[in-house]
Amino acid sequence: MQATITLLPGDGIGPEVMAEAELLLDQLARLTGHEFQTHRRLIGGAAIDAVGQALPGNSLAACRQSDAVLLGAVGGPKWDDPDASIRPEQGLLQLRQQLGLYANLRPVCPHPALYGHSPIRADRLAGVDLVVVRELTGGLYFGRKIALADMAEDVCRYTREEIERVVRQAGQLARRRRRRLTLVDKANVLATSRLWRRVTQELVQREFPDLTLEILLVDAAAMHLLSRPADFDVIVTENLFGDILTDEAAMLAGSMGLLPSASLGDSGPGLYEPIHGSAPDLAGRDCANPFAMLLSVAMMLEHSLGLVEEARLVEKAVHDCIEAGETTVDLGGVLGTREASAAVRARISNKIGVGEQKGPVRSAVEAPARSVALSS
Ligand code: NAD
Ligand code: IPM
Ligand code: MN
Repeated sequence: MQATITLLPGDGIGPEVMAEAELLLDQLARLTGHEFQTHRRLIGGAAIDAVGQALPGNSLAACRQSDAVLLGAVGGPKWDDPDASIRPEQGLLQLRQQLGLYANLRPVCPHPALYGHSPIRADRLAGVDLVVVRELTGGLYFGRKIALADMAEDVCRYTREEIERVVRQAGQLARRRRRRLTLVDKANVLATSRLWRRVTQELVQREFPDLTLEILLVDAAAMHLLSRPADFDVIVTENLFGDILTDEAAMLAGSMGLLPSASLGDSGPGLYEPIHGSAPDLAGRDCANPFAMLLSVAMMLEHSLGLVEEARLVEKAVHDCIEAGETTVDLGGVLGTREASAAVRARISNKIGVGEQKGPVRSAVEAPARSVALSS
């Protein structure tokens, strides 16, 4: 199969982990015969420095014409001036909005070999396998904003339609998993949360009567995520709560450098990115964990390109490295970014056998171009 992929390295460790994603895609292309046409474009601080915009028009245009978009990370102290009229993060938010990527999937499945790296007790981590479906194009992030010298305002707004479409995606996902859906809101205080709760209850009753729906207030959910994480299957929540809870959930897995994500809409390319940021403390030191990025490539292979076997191959290689202790320092290993990523590629080579594979690993299910695989 042929696929066009736009690469947006961004800032800080973004370009470092993106370089490893490119090496992985090159390897997969060589081993399987698939053609991945990749195009690098600017976003974030790098784009502000080069052209004065966080999401230049030609970057957005390239993304629109792609089958999938891969992003490193944006932001950093260089662009943190509170008086600046433009910030790197705006580029990412515009991209998500412009591409209509309203459903952000963030899977969390701690590897038993890493239980010791989590601050949470191993007996609580056993069996944890959850996905947070974060609403990504609404809420406080995109409401009206006022910023005056002594007053500021961020409006939180949601419509029934915005809630229904993301809860529907979460429901369909839960149906393919353990059929448990948890809504996280703050309905004891926020009007938007009361709308989320009403709309979700109605939708689940109407369209997903086979699911068990649990509803938690976000403050309590933050606690339950640590005290009984294995109880969760699919968590659906608004934009800001999803952002915060997934950094917390990364600690179940053991590192911010482990969690991938997929951002999907009803049509057009999906966006794939690690949930971590530009990690200015690690940038330029070849020590950032590349696994979240490699696992984001796996999500891209599966969701936008339909290459499910290749996705599993990448995931298995990452998991085998974790099991063998071939990791970066955040996970107790001694490898640098490039070495840890090379270890993953070595395992893929061993698995397929260099030179043996001429055609695609799997040809039964070719993905439709520009597919988004949330809807079943
Ligand atoms: P961060 O995620 O960059 O870092 C938080 C902590 O996690 C740091 O201790 C860092 O060292 C560690 N970490 C992050 N990625 C890692 C990796 N791959 N391997 C090992 N450790 C890793 O969050 P922050 O420091 O709050 O934010 C830094 C900048 O990144 C800010 O400008 C923020 O706006 C931006 N940001 C961007 C994105 C994105 O582009 N998607 C996401 C989050 C934050
Ligand atoms: C994330 C990040 C972004 C967000 C920032 C960089 C805008 O934290 O993807 O989790 O808040 O959505
Ligand atoms: Mn975040």
